[in-house]
Amino acid sequence: MVRLSTALAAALPASAAAETVLGAYIFSRHGDRTAKKTPPTGLTNLGYQQVHDSGNYYSSRYVAADSQYHILGLNSSTVKLSQLAVSAPADGVLQNSASAFLQGLYPPVGANASAQTLANGTSVDAPLDGFQLIPIAAISSNAGSEDTTWLQDATGCANAETSSNQYFYSAEYEALLASTMDFYQRLYPVVNQTFSMKDMSFKNAYSIYDLINVAEIHNATIQSNDLVTASEDTFHQLLTLANSHEFGLAYNQSSPIRGVAGMQLAAEIVDFLNGTIAGAGKQKLGIQFGAYGTFLSFFGLSQLAGHADGDNFYGIADYAATMTFELYTDADVSTYPTTADDVRVRFMYNNGTTTVAQAPTVYPLFGQQSLNLSWADFAGNMSAFSIGSTEHWCSACGNSTGVCAPFSATAAASSSSSGNGNGLSPAVNGVIGAMVTLAVILLIEGLIVLVGGLRIVRKKDLRSSPGSSLSGPAKA
Ligand SMILES: *[C@@H]1O[C@H](CO)[C@@H](O)[C@H](O)[C@H]1NC(C)=O
Ligand SMILES: *[C@@H]1O[C@H](CO)[C@@H](O)[C@H](O)[C@H]1NC(C)=O
Ligand SMILES: *[C@@H]1O[C@H](CO)[C@@H](O)[C@H](O)[C@H]1NC(C)=O
Ligand SMILES: *[C@@H]1O[C@H](CO)[C@@H](O)[C@H](O)[C@H]1NC(C)=O
Ligand SMILES: *[C@@H]1O[C@H](CO)[C@@H](O)[C@H](O)[C@H]1NC(C)=O
Ligand SMILES: *[C@@H]1O[C@H](CO)[C@@H](O)[C@H](O)[C@H]1NC(C)=O
Ligand SMILES: *[C@@H]1O[C@H](CO)[C@@H](O)[C@H](O)[C@H]1NC(C)=O
Ligand SMILES: *[C@@H]1O[C@H](CO)[C@@H](O)[C@H](O)[C@H]1NC(C)=O
Ligand SMILES: *[C@@H]1O[C@H](CO)[C@@H](O)[C@H](O)[C@H]1NC(C)=O
Ligand SMILES: *[C@@H]1O[C@H](CO)[C@@H](O)[C@H](O)[C@H]1NC(C)=O
Ligand SMILES: *[C@@H]1O[C@H](CO)[C@@H](O)[C@H](O)[C@H]1NC(C)=O
Repeated sequence: MVRLSTALAAALPASAAAETVLGAYIFSRHGDRTAKKTPPTGLTNLGYQQVHDSGNYYSSRYVAADSQYHILGLNSSTVKLSQLAVSAPADGVLQNSASAFLQGLYPPVGANASAQTLANGTSVDAPLDGFQLIPIAAISSNAGSEDTTWLQDATGCANAETSSNQYFYSAEYEALLASTMDFYQRLYPVVNQTFSMKDMSFKNAYSIYDLINVAEIHNATIQSNDLVTASEDTFHQLLTLANSHEFGLAYNQSSPIRGVAGMQLAAEIVDFLNGTIAGAGKQKLGIQFGAYGTFLSFFGLSQLAGHADGDNFYGIADYAATMTFELYTDADVSTYPTTADDVRVRFMYNNGTTTVAQAPTVYPLFGQQSLNLSWADFAGNMSAFSIGSTEHWCSACGNSTGVCAPFSATAAASSSSSGNGNGLSPAVNGVIGAMVTLAVILLIEGLIVLVGGLRIVRKKDLRSSPGSSLSGPAKA
């Protein structure tokens, strides 16, 4: 993992500054999985380990009582569910990744520590050495996203799909398609069990890379592997070509709606953290698992991909990569600040499994220099591109039927709207999913029994609440 080391990106300060972390929002990719071309995809043991390790790192950072970044008032060791909001699309790889992350975040407390006493005096321990159950809300947007190679499919946003399709008519795409044709065709013997010769082109840059990447990690007997390994350059080229292909589909400055997944995420982050401030820390830690496409869209929208050292931010986030938005105040305090004026935000990213040795790096957002922003500037810059209401989503996406029917006049008037502008005035209630989360169709409280033994209990259906019923086509 190559890390930026420049004046603009800084490692976290080692010495304890007088500051207090008030809350955080973590957006994470899943861990190592099987290939998309061999569905259904599944989280591997390696992937389980990766996200578990990352969860452990964030536990040491935010949950541990003696950490300098301990989130003010966040329960240590024994989880308090009302302080967390965890979500992931209804997708096996992402749900299991979230669950593995949570095992690392709040490890089993030990049988005795979890003991409860019944009326008749019998003491009952939690199973699995005090395993802690933490519900994960299933968001419908990007359902089954790890099983689909076309990342815009799951957004259900008409203008975003149209915009992404335009990528295939761009000069950039045509040029790469032509210049890499030989390169891909020469690799045919490696993947001929899965792809046909006519599929061997830049058009399938990601799925070819994905298949070979997974095989290189897991399969000791890849056919014609020498075609890949003879030159170090070959695999690197597969990766960088896949990177530009997927970035091209996820973001285009002249057609911002292509990044709709990042726009929705931005609103969810601001909504959650605003709830943390307004609720004096009632909800403290937001965690969402999602696909790399959402990272790429966000990198583009937030100008991470554009800043002076942004090369890396044009690429697909590695397995278990996390971007974290940390809310803090510049003083050592023991109660939440009464005004948002005292609250700042920093953005951190780690391109892969996060550990103490491979901790996140702070980067500046929005093409600026500073490594932190006041809450007002952060929220203002995010809302310049975020989409946080059904009405706004419908008009930006040009959708006018189904859930968008009530807003169809608006949708027709601005069907080519870029999604820019600030028509957003979310009635924030501090509860992720209740208002802003377009993505949420069903709030499923998943009872995670074990990774691999996921049991989801559908408790609540939010179909009647505004903004909650947008569906992307569910992909199983
Ligand atoms: C953690 O939360 C539980 C309730 O879920 C509470 O009973 C317990 O006292 C809390 N522990 C600490 C250390 O705050
Ligand atoms: C749990 O509690 C019981 C009785 O209170 C005690 O005998 C046992 O050693 C404890 N186990 C652990 C692992 O602390
Ligand atoms: C106490 O109640 C639990 C649950 O109903 C039961 O399993 C257990 O056998 C009872 N113990 C005694 C000593 O009655
Ligand atoms: C939006 O419109 C597209 C294209 O007509 C359609 O495929 C998609 O399902 C619609 N999305 C919603 C949420 O209705
Ligand atoms: C970006 O969008 C513009 C405007 O729609 C289009 O002309 C251009 O070809 C697109 N470029 C890519 C790489 O998709
Ligand atoms: C696939 O490639 C292998 C060599 O890697 C070759 O032996 C086999 O005949 C090829 N199969 C087809 C259908 O082209
Ligand atoms: C490894 O690759 C070979 C040839 O490419 C294939 O036949 C075999 O099924 C693969 N094994 C696994 C475990 O995927
Ligand atoms: C934050 O929440 C308050 C009320 O809870 C609301 O007035 C304000 O507009 C929200 N700010 C943002 C940036 O969403
Ligand atoms: C993450 O690392 C991979 C290489 O492992 C690279 O291709 C990609 O550009 C990096 N992505 C980001 C967002 O830094
Ligand atoms: C904000 O970041 C700058 C560097 O960009 C640093 O000098 C300053 O101390 C930071 N302020 C706070 C309050 O963290
Ligand atoms: C974005 O942040 C900068 C300061 O870093 C601030 O000057 C600017 O007003 C902010 N923009 C919005 C729209 O809030």
